[in-house]
Amino acid sequence: MAVIGKYSMATKSPFIIGVNGSPHTDGIVYELLNAVMEAAAKAGAETRIINLYELLMIPTPGNYSRDHASETIENAPKDDITALYPEILRSDALVLATPVYWANMSAVMKNFIEHLTPLESDGFHLEGKLAAVIAASKENEGGVEMAAMAMVAPLMQMGMLMPPNSVMWYPGQWMGGRTDYTDWAKREAPEVGRSMVELISLLREHPIEWTHYEPGF
Ligand SMILES: Cc1cc2nc3c(=O)[nH]c(=O)nc-3n(C[C@H](O)[C@H](O)[C@H](O)COP(=O)(O)O)c2cc1C
Repeated sequence: MAVIGKYSMATKSPFIIGVNGSPHTDGIVYELLNAVMEAAAKAGAETRIINLYELLMIPTPGNYSRDHASETIENAPKDDITALYPEILRSDALVLATPVYWANMSAVMKNFIEHLTPLESDGFHLEGKLAAVIAASKENEGGVEMAAMAMVAPLMQMGMLMPPNSVMWYPGQWMGGRTDYTDWAKREAPEVGRSMVELISLLREHPIEWTHYEPGF
């Protein structure tokens, strides 16, 4: 398979994976994720949504903490996420969407992010791929920004690239609050989907050689 930079040339269309960290497919999290994905598909992307609650995930064995060299794709416990590694490697972008659970992402989303560790450790495979995040609560009980930013930090550390406005949060309503402000993420989501496709196409035409510091442990 020809690879330019970290972008797969096996598929002509940009390939974007949406990751739903909510148990629901009829809630606000899925609605926002779907808005990004539908706009991306309309702009020409191949898209796929993964519902994490349908998957069996084995908690990370923490290989990295014992011996950095052992944190490999091969050593990762075989479960439904490691089975998706080829799809993740083939993708140009990930869109992570989570409900706010106790001022953070849902446990399955955290588990998913931990599953990305071998992809980083074993050759920085996510470097230069695009990412967007969505955190949502319809109850506005606090912590929506923290949930969003808690996803941003590891994705950035893994070398992913976030287009403008791709950190979206939706705090929901409180005591009949103004929807024109809280609903901005609903308006932003389709724009993010569209701009991701444009940016992927640009990066394919003008690949960037990303560099990273590899500590010699
Ligand atoms: C275990 C749990 C913890 C939650 N913690 C928070 C919270 O800290 N802040 C908040 O605003 N909403 C919190 N919520 C509410 C959810 O974020 C909210 O219902 C969200 O809209 C669910 O999205 P969904 O319907 O798309 O799954 C929590 C819900 C559950 C089940």
